[in-house]
Amino acid sequence: MSITFPSSTSHESHTFIPKTMRVLVTGASGLLGRAVVSEFKNSGHEVIGVAFSRAQGDLKKLNLEDSTAVEAFVDQEKPDVIVHCAAERRPDVVEKNPNGAKNLNVQVPGLLADISNDRGILLIYISTDYVFDGTSPPYDVRDKANPLNVYGQTKYDGELEVKRLNSSAIILRVPILYGETEYNGESAVNALIDSVKDGKATTMDDYAIRYPTNVADVARVIKDLSLKVRHEKVFISGILHFSAEEKFTKYRMCEVIAKVLGTSMDHLESVSTAPKDGGTTRPYDCHLSNRCLNGVGINTHCVKFEDWMQRWLTKA
Ligand SMILES: NC(=O)c1ccc[n+]([C@@H]2O[C@H](COP(=O)([O-])OP(=O)(O)OC[C@H]3O[C@@H](n4cnc5c(N)ncnc54)[C@H](OP(=O)(O)O)[C@@H]3O)[C@@H](O)[C@H]2O)c1
Repeated sequence: MSITFPSSTSHESHTFIPKTMRVLVTGASGLLGRAVVSEFKNSGHEVIGVAFSRAQGDLKKLNLEDSTAVEAFVDQEKPDVIVHCAAERRPDVVEKNPNGAKNLNVQVPGLLADISNDRGILLIYISTDYVFDGTSPPYDVRDKANPLNVYGQTKYDGELEVKRLNSSAIILRVPILYGETEYNGESAVNALIDSVKDGKATTMDDYAIRYPTNVADVARVIKDLSLKVRHEKVFISGILHFSAEEKFTKYRMCEVIAKVLGTSMDHLESVSTAPKDGGTTRPYDCHLSNRCLNGVGINTHCVKFEDWMQRWLTKA
């Protein structure tokens, strides 16, 4: 990460009145993209949300793999900031179709990096804790990446493309995400609600350590970073990490969900050993350190997992 404060005193930098930013959000129909759109809109900014198969309502349809269309779209919309959330983020899908995912996860971030660099647009590229092998947490931004699966590799290759083509871009790595979903299976965390509720006997991972992070918190961090760069004129670039601090296995998340629902989870069998070979390899513990984000004055507070589940599962 690189940071340069403006030449004005810190006192003066606090006197900036936030102006309206024009923000292009890719993947705006997805789990994180929807939260990012809401966060910027609710703070009075102009948002252009783009989606692909689920482009409905205010969202515009744009195939990010069509480079000519993407360039023309950016020139027409003239954003100050691009938040790039679109990706193929399901490791098992990427494993089965690596070439398809490489285009979306590697070439597209490169294209957006190039376009934003030429036009002085702030690019925030969303990456993942899966760039690490999970053997020596916590991970700081300079720690060596060593992805264990093809998804992690494509996201890391996307980071390298972004760095190569736009040295002013921000790469924000986040861990497993949860939040307001259209259906529970949209998030690997919310999907556990179905596992608890449906009563079907199955095994549940009680081995790998995860830090479920709410998309509303990630969206707030993205907006705060954008304001710092665009309005406070703090030059921030390169890799940053953002993670909630509460640690769980999937089984432990199920315990919280079952407690909130007041239901039994006797049908779930805890498995506290490493998964056997066969499926997509996943890292053990990729705890991301918030040190650099805190260092640039970004609020890294996260909603408590149980409190959010309580509100979500009991809402009318
Ligand atoms: N979810 C997690 O747990 C997690 C964890 C760490 C990092 N991340 C990263 O966070 C980011 C957001 O993930 P997410 O969970 O919000 O993803 P998601 O819900 O799966 O959404 C993916 C988005 O990409 C869009 N998209 C796919 N192909 C496209 C194309 N050719 N052109 C334009 N848009 C296309 C989809 O649009 P349509 O649906 O409209 O087709 C959708 O809006 C990703 O970069 C992911 O790698 C996610």
